[in-house]
Amino acid sequence: MKAQRAAWLLCWTVAGAAPGAFADETAVRYPDGAATFQANCAVCHGHEGRGQPSLAPPLTAYPAHYIAAAAGRRQLAMTVLYGMFGDIAVDQQHYNFKMPGFVRLGDDALAGVLNYVVFDLAHAPADAKPLNAADVAAAREEPATGEAVRQHRAALIGALGL
Ligand code: HEC
Repeated sequence: MKAQRAAWLLCWTVAGAAPGAFADETAVRYPDGAATFQANCAVCHGHEGRGQPSLAPPLTAYPAHYIAAAAGRRQLAMTVLYGMFGDIAVDQQHYNFKMPGFVRLGDDALAGVLNYVVFDLAHAPADAKPLNAADVAAAREEPATGEAVRQHRAALIGALGL
């Protein structure tokens, strides 16, 4: 019984360390977004988006709330395009660092990585409307600073009651 449990735990740990390597690939709804995430975002946010204390926030909860609101969808697009700068709190934990912008990545790639964050990492309800390239293109029309992105977030957090 003990050995069985140890083997199960080992499998679980190994699968957790290398997402996708053992798991059923079809379980990931946005595989292209996952590839973009592992290449560009995981270094700070971690492979599963759980964040790192005082370096980068977890992406496993708030983005699922953002996707339901127009201002939240815009917030997501602004964040990946222009980054974010200054003190923020996620679940009462503070982060005060600089996220770089990814304006060099295309609209499709950014919509894909955000959908991966929202649906695969943060588990938004499956019937929420995914972001598309036009959502990112609209935010690209209005360049913003990382500080402005942080202020937009503060208003959103208040409106959503997070
Ligand atoms: C150099 C480290 C770094 C990289 C690379 C990075 N981020 Fe971030 N990210 C941060 C930090 C730090 C913050 C919080 C910024 C602050 O403190 O103002 C953040 C914030 C966010 C937020 C806002 C979370 C919230 O609660 O509002 C999202 C969404 C996000 N990142 C997604 C991404 C995605 C997607 C990528 C890859 C395309 C990425 N990040 C790449 C460091 C990083």
